[in-house]
Amino acid sequence: MSEDEHVIVDFHGVDDAAVVRLNGNEVIVQTVDFFTPIVDDPYDFGQIAAANAISDIYAMGATPLFALNIVAFPRKELPMRVLSEILKGGNDKAKEAGISIVGGHSIDDNEPKYGLVVTGRGEVDRLVKNSTSHPGDFIILTKPLGTGIIATGIKRGVTEESVIAEATKVMTTLNDDASELMLRLNAHAATDVTGFGLLGHLLEMCQASNVSAKIRFKNLPFIGGVGQLVDKEVVPGGTRRNLDYVSNYVTFSERISNDQKIMAADAQTSGGLLITLPRDRAELFVAKFDEISNIKAVIIGEIVPPQENQIIVE
Ligand code: CO
Ligand code: CO
Repeated sequence: MSEDEHVIVDFHGVDDAAVVRLNGNEVIVQTVDFFTPIVDDPYDFGQIAAANAISDIYAMGATPLFALNIVAFPRKELPMRVLSEILKGGNDKAKEAGISIVGGHSIDDNEPKYGLVVTGRGEVDRLVKNSTSHPGDFIILTKPLGTGIIATGIKRGVTEESVIAEATKVMTTLNDDASELMLRLNAHAATDVTGFGLLGHLLEMCQASNVSAKIRFKNLPFIGGVGQLVDKEVVPGGTRRNLDYVSNYVTFSERISNDQKIMAADAQTSGGLLITLPRDRAELFVAKFDEISNIKAVIIGEIVPPQENQIIVE
């Protein structure tokens, strides 16, 4: 942990954003995220990168305040209107989140990269950390999985248009409604599902909270077409690395096939919130979320007292 007494959450933990106390109960929450294009449309890519970056503020139960652009672009190889479209996507998504992008930095690079630094504010006693799950909590996931597999399928030219459209809708959706609702229902713990995949982020949550999790594969939501892509060997390198890593901590029931393990470990971009709540409030969350969002939240399992392995997939 940092020696600065104002630092409440830093990179020694594995929470979503850094948290530094301003005064009293008031904290600054800050995060940075950027990556290479995962869809072909530059405007969509800009929206996805912004939604993904802002998500870490929502995952902490904080409120975004403003953002800065981080841009790398091959100005000699690609027309400048591609960059304008990326930035417009980011700008529009920030506006939807109620914030402005007020500066940034760009460099010339041979591959485009885009993302944001996002600053938010919160109250220390209302922050939702990933280290406070309780045995008996139900586990909720607010977006379907599979965006890593779909993005790899896009690069190989084998993902169908309808699947791309659905994945784009999922990835451009802000986690603002999910965040607001989890605060209203006093969620015990939360994180967002991104590069380490569902199993990786659930593992972090279990380790930080000193609990285990039992999830049911048949309850996991996936974007349509993901299973077929895995069947055609469309698997991102990051997803395979995730599965290799989490395998030491996960007990898979023998009914779970290798393809299913890959799907559960898939590296996500701009994924949903993973939230734990007592049973009655979890059921209320799912019902209320259904009224405000066009994506369904799903109960995927429950938190149990610590077992030999942190995650059991049945
Ligand atoms: Co995160
Ligand atoms: Co992040």
